[in-house]
Parts: sequence; C-alpha cells; structure tokens
Amino acid sequence: MPASLAAVAADAAACTRCSLAAGRTHVVFGMGDPTSDLMFVGEGPGAEEDKQGLPFVGRSGKLLDQLVLEEMGLTRDRVYIANVVKCRPPNNRDPLPDEIAACRPFLDSQIELIAPKVVVTLGKFAGQLLLASKEGITRLRGRTYPFAGAVLVPTVHPAYVLRGGGEPMAQMRADLVRAKRALAEAGSKLVATPSGAGS
Ligand code: URA
Repeated sequence: MPASLAAVAADAAACTRCSLAAGRTHVVFGMGDPTSDLMFVGEGPGAEEDKQGLPFVGRSGKLLDQLVLEEMGLTRDRVYIANVVKCRPPNNRDPLPDEIAACRPFLDSQIELIAPKVVVTLGKFAGQLLLASKEGITRLRGRTYPFAGAVLVPTVHPAYVLRGGGEPMAQMRADLVRAKRALAEAGSKLVATPSGAGS
C-alpha cells in the first residue's frame, strides 16, 4: 500500500515516465474528498485542466457537475475525481497505450488509498482500462461490474454527451442513477436513505 495520497501526488508531480511530461503545464493528479465512497475516473486533462492543474474544470466538467448534482444530489467536493493519464495529451488526442501504462500505477494507488465503494468510469479509456476489456463503451455501459472490492459503473464521457445530445445524455443520467443505487446498496452515507427505511 502506498504511504499516502500526498506522497503519490508528489511522485506524480515530478514524473517523467512518458513523453506527455514534456508538454504539460501542470500534472492533474485529482481532486475532491480522499475519503469519498464515490470516485470518477476520466480520460486525461484538456487545455483548461492543464492550465489549472485540476480535473474536469472545462465544459465537460461543468456538465459532469450538473448531471451528478441532478441525478445523485452530490457536489464535487463530496466525491473524488481523477483521470487515466495525469498530463495533457497534445491537441487533446487520445492517450497512447504506453502513456496509459506509464500512468497506471498512480491511478491504482489512488483507488487503493481512497478505497471507494463505487467507481464511475467516464468514457472508453477508463472503462476499458479498469475492466481489462477491449469492448466499446456502448457495450460496456448499462450494467455494473465487481471491481477491486467495489462496484464499477461504466458510462460515456461527458465530452461525448456535449457532442451527441439526447441519447448519450439519457445514457449518462441512467448510469449515474445506477451508481447512486450501487452506493445505497453498499450502505454509503453519501446517499440518503428514506427515513424509516428498514423499520
Ligand atoms: N476530460 C477528461 O477526461 N478529464 C478531464 O479532467 C477533463 C476532460
């Protein structure tokens, strides 16, 4: 078990394990509540994230915040948000297999230390990586998976929702409801149980 999230973040801040290091302004390690029962894993930082050093602070992030609030009743300070790769790929291209492999130990350490009850993967790269699958996201999503003692809920990437309109939006909303249900089933305090439940 790695020592602490701060120690892993310090390691990441000095990382030169892949070529993305040369082009970054900031390493985007992650943000939120490090004791949260709910963790989101995206793909990698975009321009705004690279500038600020924080995940999902651009247009995709605003949509993520909105949908998580509307479907789960949660604000971003109550969850933890990280990415598959911690440095911005040039021109927002997809992360390459060697970059994903080089960065994976950071994500594994984050998951181990945060020990969420539910992990929501956003988009193809995070879903395929954590489920060790080559299936596309439309085949992966729509159900839950056991994952490292937790429950994994794959959903589409918010950038795809921004481009794709109605159907991806409905899919993401349904997946967030699925994640909320998984939290409730795991007994998480993040989701309110109706008063009198169980009596
Ligand atoms: N897209 C991602 O996958 N992650 C971010 O942090 C921002 C946009």
